[in-house]
Formats: sequence, C-alpha cells, structure tokens
Amino acid sequence: MKLLNFKQLLPIAQQRGFHAVGSFNLHCLEMLPAYFEAALDTNSPLMIQISTGTAEYLGRELLVSSIQSLAEKHDVPTCLHLDHCSNIDDIKKAIDSGFSSVMYDGSHLPLAENIANTNIVLDYARQFNVTVEAELGAIGGAEDGKAVAESDIAFTSVAEATQFVREADVDMLAVSIGTVHGSYTAKTNIQHQLLAEIHQAVDKSLVLHGGTGVSDEDMHYVIRHGMDKVNVGTEMNVQWVKHCQDTFSSGKVDDSVRKFFIPARKAVRAVIAEKMRLFQ
Ligand code: 13P
Repeated sequence: MKLLNFKQLLPIAQQRGFHAVGSFNLHCLEMLPAYFEAALDTNSPLMIQISTGTAEYLGRELLVSSIQSLAEKHDVPTCLHLDHCSNIDDIKKAIDSGFSSVMYDGSHLPLAENIANTNIVLDYARQFNVTVEAELGAIGGAEDGKAVAESDIAFTSVAEATQFVREADVDMLAVSIGTVHGSYTAKTNIQHQLLAEIHQAVDKSLVLHGGTGVSDEDMHYVIRHGMDKVNVGTEMNVQWVKHCQDTFSSGKVDDSVRKFFIPARKAVRAVIAEKMRLFQ
C-alpha cells in the first residue's frame, strides 16, 4: 500500500466518523508499533509526523520503509508527514525519500518571504503528489527542544491568512489561536472568535499545533470549527520517558532491554487511541 497524502487521508477519516485527523509525532523507532496498534484499536487512519531532528536521527529511508511496511501489513491508511521544517533542501530530501506530506514553516519570516518560500516548496511537492502545510502567526512553547520566546508569540491575522492562501495554494494552514507546543495545560487559551473568522475567510484545512494539554471541550470545539488536522507530540514522549524511567531504574542490566519498553509502548498506544476517539 502506498503512503497517502493528507488530502487522500482526510476523506477516509471522515467516512469512518472522525471530524479531524490526529497527527502524532514519532520520537523514536521503538514507539512505532504503538501508533499502528492505536489505529487498529479505533479503526482510525494514521498520520505520523516527524520532526527534522528525528528525521536526521533515524534516517528518512528507515522511517519511510518501516512505516510503509507496517501500513501494508496492518492495512491502515497512513500518511507520513514532515513536521516544522524551515529548510527547503531538507523538505526536498524528505519528499525524495518518500514522505507523503510536508510542512514548510516560514512563520518567523516576513509575510512576502514566507509566501515566496512556500511556493517553492509547493512547486516541488506538487510533482510528487505530496501535500503541503504552511504556518502563519507564531505558536509558543518548545519545538523540537527549542523554545519560542513568549514575546515572539503572535496570533494569526485574518487579513494575512486570507492573503496567504490567495498567493500560496497550500493544502493545510497552521494557525496560532492560543495553543502552545509542550506541556503547558494552563496556558491554553483558545481564541474562539479568531478561529471562527479565519475559518470563514480561509477555505483550507486548518491545523492546530500544540495538541498536548488542550482540554477535551476545546478539542471538541476546534475540530467542529475548521481544524482538520490536530498535532499531538509531547504527550507520547512524556508517557514513554515516564515508563522507561521506572523500568530502567528497577531492571537488571542482563534483562532483555525489550522488556523495559513494554509498559511504555502500552501507555503510548493508550494515549494515541484516547486522542483518536476524541476526534470522532
Ligand atoms: P505538542 O507537543 O504540544 O502536542 O505539539 C505538537 C506539535 O504541534 C508538533 O508540531
């Protein structure tokens, strides 16, 4: 089975009763089977996203071949997406390796430059039927370990979003409406009116970043008001590290290391399945 792009995956999710596609960051290869187990538990299609750091760490070819073979084995419609990438060469490498969706993040650039670079990515991606996500506005928190300063956080402007999609025909637009990346539960402050205005003005799939710590009520709201893709990253990492800390500290050095990962894998499976059910 070929990996699907986001535009192919979304209608499958909708046919199966999901309002939005959860896009889950993979942090290490050992975690991967849990993502497919959760998809099978909930009859959900699967979107796995990879940071540039993880892509470098594991290698794009290993990621593409392992994800493709599990998608085939389990018959799960699957999209492999490159998360936040500001380097156009790295995006091209991901596309050349077989990623089916990419994000160009030019949110730190002036609008005209963000649009121009996004168009370069679009021209390349379109040749391979790869979907493209762009970002407008600045989402706070930490991305791949690098913190975004609070003073740099900026909600997306409706006028800029309108201009952006007029000048760059992206498939998905990530907007800043009050979530932050990382475990910052108390800081989530969804701007309902702003989301409604962007949704009305922009005829594109919107993307919510910083899904960790968003309350169930807020999640229900955003997926009914334009958010077709919801990113969740930190929650799986937290579960993985927490359980591994316990098993590694209590285990013996000659135990099979595989056993140390079993509780973490179960916990990650549960957290992804819970989120997938939330999107139904
Ligand atoms: P969280 O880590 O807050 O879930 O955000 C993930 C994300 O948006 C990745 O792009």
